[in-house]
Amino acid sequence: MDEKELLKAAQIIKNGGLVAFPTETVYGLGANALSADAVAKIYTAKGRPSRNPIIVHVASIDQAKSLVSSWSETADKLAEKFWPGPLTMILPKASMVPDIVTGGGQTVALRMPSHPIAQRLIELAEVPIAAPSANVSGRVSSTTAQHVRDGLGEAVDMILDGGPTEAGIESTVIDLSVEPPVIRRPGPIAREELEKILSFELRASSEDKGGTLVSPGMMQSHYAPKTRLMLVTSDELQATGLRLQASGKKVGLLPLMDEPQLYAAQLYAILHRFDAQNLDIILVEEPPREPQWEAVRDRLVRAAAER
Ligand code: TXA
Ligand code: MG
Repeated sequence: MDEKELLKAAQIIKNGGLVAFPTETVYGLGANALSADAVAKIYTAKGRPSRNPIIVHVASIDQAKSLVSSWSETADKLAEKFWPGPLTMILPKASMVPDIVTGGGQTVALRMPSHPIAQRLIELAEVPIAAPSANVSGRVSSTTAQHVRDGLGEAVDMILDGGPTEAGIESTVIDLSVEPPVIRRPGPIAREELEKILSFELRASSEDKGGTLVSPGMMQSHYAPKTRLMLVTSDELQATGLRLQASGKKVGLLPLMDEPQLYAAQLYAILHRFDAQNLDIILVEEPPREPQWEAVRDRLVRAAAER
């Protein structure tokens, strides 16, 4: 991308505006993390509940350290191994981080993205950038600039188009402000990879001890297309699909793929496409309860949750 465009985007951030930008996970909706007024615009644009905190994106470990009141040895190890990349770490916040960024809480979520456009934007803006996924609150995240335009349109001052994002699902979020640390959101960096570095077992907050997801009814709907979405077995996918079609319903069918990473990379684009087709229902084959499917399962279970 042309440096002039990046300079223009950085200037918008400095002036308190909103810039959507690609990361290696999904597109972010960015504002100056140190300006409460700028961050307030993010909540308005997304219709995001004010108690839902926002991840702060940094260009260096030093910048991350400036935003916390204490940095730990564990944070050091994880940053060294996984930054820049799709890992978000929650730590006690420094007083310079406005309350609006943390939803009023005492912790801040930090991430150093590896996408060159995201990195360069943060460097040129010379401030950390608060950025949730660039979508209407509760809806499917954006993996292309067009998804951002369709969802947020006029509310964004500028969209940096870096093509489709690579991972396709949001970063892994690990909470280091509690002992022992907990995975708050499974993502592209699998639990086992984190455990190798930490040398102890991690538990996802969304799972019970048996490794199964908490009842979907207990979960807030999130990552959800406008169209109703149901998880079904592979047999049901065909049978229920045919039955609904025979009764005149327009049905979207999403079978499982072999490779979880490829599936994750395409999932949101497929859901956005289904949503544009005015279907009655989307039937998705339920991914197996296996570690490599954990992040995708988490998103689909929430997408299928009662609203
Ligand atoms: O990959 C990603 O993480 C993308 C890209 C743009 O970086 N961002 C993203 O942000 O997914 P968002 O806001 O859509 O999801 C962030 C999640 C939310 O569930 C939020 O509640 C949680 O992280 N979170 C943020 N700050 C937190 C904090 N201080 N404590 C606990 N949870 C936090
Ligand atoms: Mg989001």
